[in-house]
Amino acid sequence: MRDLPDLNIALAGYQPGYALPREMYTSQAVYDLDIEKVWNANWLWVGHVSQIPNPGDYFLFDYGTESVIICRDRQGEVRAHMNVCRHRGSRVCVEQSGNARSFVCPYHAWTFELSGELRGGRAMGADFDPAKWGLLPAQVRVFQGMILICASKDAPELDSGLEVLAPLTAPFGFEQMKVAHTASYPVPANWKLAVENYMECYHCAPSHQEYARSHSLKNPTDVVKLLPAMQDRARAAGLPIDEVSLNMEAGHPAGADIYYRRYPLFEGYKTGSKSGEPVAPLLGALTGFDGGATDVQLGMLNYFLVYSDHLVGYRFVPRGLQETDIQVVWMVHEDAEEGRDYDPQDVAWLWHVTSQDDERIIRHNQEGVNSHFFQPGPLAEMEFSIESFYQFYLHMIGAQPG
Ligand code: FES
Ligand SMILES: [Fe+2]
Repeated sequence: MRDLPDLNIALAGYQPGYALPREMYTSQAVYDLDIEKVWNANWLWVGHVSQIPNPGDYFLFDYGTESVIICRDRQGEVRAHMNVCRHRGSRVCVEQSGNARSFVCPYHAWTFELSGELRGGRAMGADFDPAKWGLLPAQVRVFQGMILICASKDAPELDSGLEVLAPLTAPFGFEQMKVAHTASYPVPANWKLAVENYMECYHCAPSHQEYARSHSLKNPTDVVKLLPAMQDRARAAGLPIDEVSLNMEAGHPAGADIYYRRYPLFEGYKTGSKSGEPVAPLLGALTGFDGGATDVQLGMLNYFLVYSDHLVGYRFVPRGLQETDIQVVWMVHEDAEEGRDYDPQDVAWLWHVTSQDDERIIRHNQEGVNSHFFQPGPLAEMEFSIESFYQFYLHMIGAQPG
């Protein structure tokens, strides 16, 4: 484990079953470690294949100190390269998205192929071997159209979990989706507070009026009561009702988590919309609305909520020690036509208002945690997922809890 004074203080103060100590959210040294050990070493959901349909199409995914170029190469494969020039380190690609024949560094014009290979160092002499100076690759997995990347060679082994998940998500037709709307909600808080907030629904009843009106998850007894009828409807609509939870407690490697569970909306809600009525055509092969919502997790940092007619993807991207972007992506069936079949504002309504609430409560959370009077308090039973997140996190940064 790295010997960092702040980390040592934090770990000495950590007690299982309690929130993490203050330094975990206030120390720049711990934040730097988070980028290196957690974000650079885990699978990150960066987008969907529909965003880069043609060879040369690319977009950037930025987090912490890092930037990654995600592109489609000439052979049609999705590739990811660390956006750091192998000459003297400049960002190679500075446009957020576009189409390129090659990537030309804006500094001294080293030119990289879509595959990442260096085309030839300009005026570098006869001994120079361009083969050694290609862009550093990031690993890529495409799961049913969803693009995941990992900057580390030693990425968590996700494939076996994805195999288990594949038949469950298949009816939703992830591959045949497109982005209907995106939004980013910057919050002045450490990324871990944003993730923790997403992982628990203890706050849903007091903090999310609109969500609480339609989703049963805030009250475990409601879930139990409504579940059997929803499961009957789910089966009839072509959805499996299995639950999958592969995590460290189940013996899976850290960061290889896979989660799938469908839970009921309240009566009168076919989907997560303002009125409860559909906001887009049915996804994939579904034949009807079952009034459910599925929580899906790919790895430890990528979250999805799948209704019968749209999908909401969530990630909490670190920008600085206490700067995080809550990035939300709304997706619908690829054949749905904007204006005719859906209005992006209607599709996005619920998780727009809910994310605004989250921005506010996470911001206040960080303000209180910054206080010298903050002492980590006990977690509630409804916050059990936070405990799993801590186990993962502490493992990743090399600390053995307890
Ligand atoms: S830093 Fe990229 S060509 Fe010099
Ligand atoms: Fe929330």
